[in-house]
Amino acid sequence: MADTTLMDKLVSLCKRRGFVFQSSEIYGGLGSVWDYGPLGVELKKNVKDRWWRAMVHARDDIEGLDAAILMHPRVWEASGHVAGFTDPLVDCRHCKNRFRADDPRIKGTPGQPDAQCPVCGSKGTLTEPRLFNLMFKTFMGPVEEQAAVVYLRPETAQGIYVNYLNVLQSSRQRIPFGIAQIGKAFRNEITPGNFIFRTREFEQMEMQFFVKPGTDADWFERWREWRMQWHRDLGLTPAKLQWHQHGPDELAHYARAAFDIQYEFPFGWQEIEGIHNRGDFDLGRHQQYSGKKLEYFDQAGNERYLPFIVETSAGADRVALTLLVDAYREEEVEGETRVVLGFHPAVAPIKAGVFPLVKKDGMPELATALYHDLKRRFPAFYDDSGAIGRRYRRMDEAGTPFGITVDGDTTAQRTVTVRHRDSMQQDRVGLDQVAAYVAERIGGD
Ligand code: GAP
Repeated sequence: MADTTLMDKLVSLCKRRGFVFQSSEIYGGLGSVWDYGPLGVELKKNVKDRWWRAMVHARDDIEGLDAAILMHPRVWEASGHVAGFTDPLVDCRHCKNRFRADDPRIKGTPGQPDAQCPVCGSKGTLTEPRLFNLMFKTFMGPVEEQAAVVYLRPETAQGIYVNYLNVLQSSRQRIPFGIAQIGKAFRNEITPGNFIFRTREFEQMEMQFFVKPGTDADWFERWREWRMQWHRDLGLTPAKLQWHQHGPDELAHYARAAFDIQYEFPFGWQEIEGIHNRGDFDLGRHQQYSGKKLEYFDQAGNERYLPFIVETSAGADRVALTLLVDAYREEEVEGETRVVLGFHPAVAPIKAGVFPLVKKDGMPELATALYHDLKRRFPAFYDDSGAIGRRYRRMDEAGTPFGITVDGDTTAQRTVTVRHRDSMQQDRVGLDQVAAYVAERIGGD
């Protein structure tokens, strides 16, 4: 299967089965903004729930936070985003298209007569590169004046830094400790694309770990290991995960060291999560810009210091895309192509499909009762239309790990058939045991 074809097939499956739709589709769509349908919202929620469990509930040294999207405009001056969160762009004066200055399709030097527009082909119409800030602006209050400009946050991290003392004091944590947050972020990306890989509105799962200076390198290594393991535990193909270390030219202004966890997408190796040693850059800047002391007093050592920060920053949408890409496969079964999303059961949107073999002989009643029982414990789906093979195939495409069929033997023997999505093997399981049978196999932590 050609790689581009795989992405096309995935985008089409996501729409057909209700994972992801284009935003405002009936109006022609909104560029690089996507909506999650019934299956997609479950998939992404499973990603976020697993992250929250691993990062907050399973640990004593991390607290949760849900900071607002809108923040004081000075936050973005302190963070460096107002001055530095920019891309150099050029415009074509003829066709009005806009490009990144380093767009490989541009021939010649933008601003010079030899430069050629990659869209309309005109020569000499490209402007000199100008810096374009990626933050979305909006206005707070009734008057659209400069004083009231606020930004949609381009990352969730800043909400953590400005709340670090509030969380530290209210939770009675001591350093080392962390703050975790999941939330929306917005970037007016110039080259978005690859479906939900790079979008203008997305969700981040970020954790900032506050440590004593000098212990940061050790914590950085620990966090690298833990985060890679988390991705492996999602069931992703291990050979498709790798580290990428940022060289001196790549390092962000705040970072002392940075590694990306990359996945091999059909469009190449790309970042799904970044681990950064941010030193005391963030707290130092917020201390300077707010005029508030943000130092920590270490009672044990009787010393005061500005903590260093180790950050782990992943995109929930990117992880969801990784799961979709990794799970997609096509197989030949009895002369037909079977499309399967082979999700790890723990992240599958629906855990079990329930099917009466036929719509008579008491089977629908038994199947409905079983369905309602299962649905109280985990997402299940009831389907009584079409041949049983077709119903299995529909569940394969949705990535549902178990198909449960109520048949002629169910009334007499009180047993059902449980069909496994990947092997297509079938087990006979007691009607009263089905819920426990499925629950045991979807835990997956
Ligand atoms: N606080 C650090 C920070 O935001 P980043 O590398 O810019 O670092 C972290 O972003 C993660 O957020 C990325 O690894 C990616 O998963 C996700 N992300 C960033 N920009 C995105 C976009 N435009 N669309 C979808 N996900 C994005």
